[in-house]
Amino acid sequence: MDTFVIDGGRRLSGRVRINGSKNAALPILAAALLTTEPVTIHDVPALDDIANMIRLLAQLGCGQVAQGAEDSAGVIRLQTTDESISHAPYEIVRTMRASICTLGPLLAKRGYARVSLPGGCSIGERPVDLHLRGLRALGAEITLEAGDIIARVPAGGLKGTTIFLGGANGSTVLGTTNVMCAASLAKGTTIIECAACEPEVVDLAKLLIKMGAKISGAGSPRIVIEGVTQLGGATYVVMPDRIEAGTFMIAAAITNGDMILDNCPTDAMLAPIYWLEAAGVHVQQVAPLAATIANTLPAGRPRGGSSLSLSSGSTSTNGSVGGGGSGGGGAGGGDDPLRRCVRVTTERVLKSVDVTTQPHPGFPTDLQAQFMALLCLADGNSVVTERIFQDRFLHVAELSRMGAKLVRQGSTVIITGVRNLVGAPVMASDLRASAGLVLAGLAAEGTTCVNRVYHLDRGYERMEERLRSLGASIARVDEKELAAKNIAAVS
Ligand code: EPZ
Repeated sequence: MDTFVIDGGRRLSGRVRINGSKNAALPILAAALLTTEPVTIHDVPALDDIANMIRLLAQLGCGQVAQGAEDSAGVIRLQTTDESISHAPYEIVRTMRASICTLGPLLAKRGYARVSLPGGCSIGERPVDLHLRGLRALGAEITLEAGDIIARVPAGGLKGTTIFLGGANGSTVLGTTNVMCAASLAKGTTIIECAACEPEVVDLAKLLIKMGAKISGAGSPRIVIEGVTQLGGATYVVMPDRIEAGTFMIAAAITNGDMILDNCPTDAMLAPIYWLEAAGVHVQQVAPLAATIANTLPAGRPRGGSSLSLSSGSTSTNGSVGGGGSGGGGAGGGDDPLRRCVRVTTERVLKSVDVTTQPHPGFPTDLQAQFMALLCLADGNSVVTERIFQDRFLHVAELSRMGAKLVRQGSTVIITGVRNLVGAPVMASDLRASAGLVLAGLAAEGTTCVNRVYHLDRGYERMEERLRSLGASIARVDEKELAAKNIAAVS
């Protein structure tokens, strides 16, 4: 297993391009099960979760068709050629619970699906009762056998209906994507009330519409789907990853840096940008410089023109996209609010804020750990409340090992800002907690070793290389090699 060794205290500066969104790409790739025509997806990030999804789809008869020579990295071409196996086995689902998003497409297209129950994970219970509620409402016959969900479509097929899909904690992202996919091939009209409004749901709806689905209201709590008899192939560019973008914004802020983010989905990030601005971080839209961007694309990953929608304007336009400041001016023609160029800088002293995670458009739970790391260095007391996953605080004990002053009371953590964090060996536990620990290590005095960074590789592509390109001192080291070095050092 790998460890990140970080020598903290360096200001990050420079330019980084935000990759396609993991959480948009996963249900989008699964949607290829809804047709036997080719589906081509651009700007798919090279992540472990994505590789696992591609492996699962291949097992389900939806394999990658020959990549064209003109294909750049990040282009995935899928086509379903065999619909005889509709079983998503436990050994894959347990490593990536997002495999559950194959349930709706398999059921709707093939009339049968067997998907392992994902079980919980380190951030808490991960039930799927809402997924099953929605699919049963469409007429699916669902039983649970030996840890698997067995779903069948009755003789008359799935029938559109009105479904309330809200749970105790509000809406469900992948529950909404499952029901939206299934309803796309149901007979009649489906209304999903209390649908998840996340941008990733909107991205999937845009692909489904390109495949021939009739969907309106995606991004609002009420989605209306007119079922159609079949869906066709399509080509689609995944939206940029708002959680990766927020993570890099906080990397700039926590090191008092000066960073430009290209391909940044600011329109999907108004809540995190608002709270970053409240904490004294400045997020300003600037004109994307095509030539410069071409130089910052990840090495070895030339991009097809379609994956970057650059505005033609080269005049520099500085307008804050967050709260306060002048209105966010476009950067010349073709300003795509999901693919903007922003510059992140900070006041020297960060201000304390109180934030609660909520379903979109509220503050995203996936940025809670990263934002907490930043607030550890803010002036005064901050309060972070987690409303989505009750156990999503595994990073609290590890941040405390680095000198953070944190007190947890149930779903709330009270943070007393300190002047500096101190580097220490810490343990990553889940994807976003790992990111929070890396950010803390970038700011800490001394050396931080973040162990088990395989968690991080699930959601961040070559994180250490991209941080190094921004001036960080960070290296990926095999844990055994590091242990041997440490033993040698003390003996
Ligand atoms: C998606 O998970 C994301 N994953 C998560 O990101 C994200 O944290 C989460 O949405 C919330 O935004 C992907 O998109 C692959 P939910 P999902 O169903 O859909 C409860 C990351 O770090 N619930 O929206 O599985 C659930 O317990 C990952 O990238 C039920 O009660 O989450 C939670 O409290 C982590 N019953 C709340 O709803 C259900 O049937 C939201 O969960 C489903 C969910």
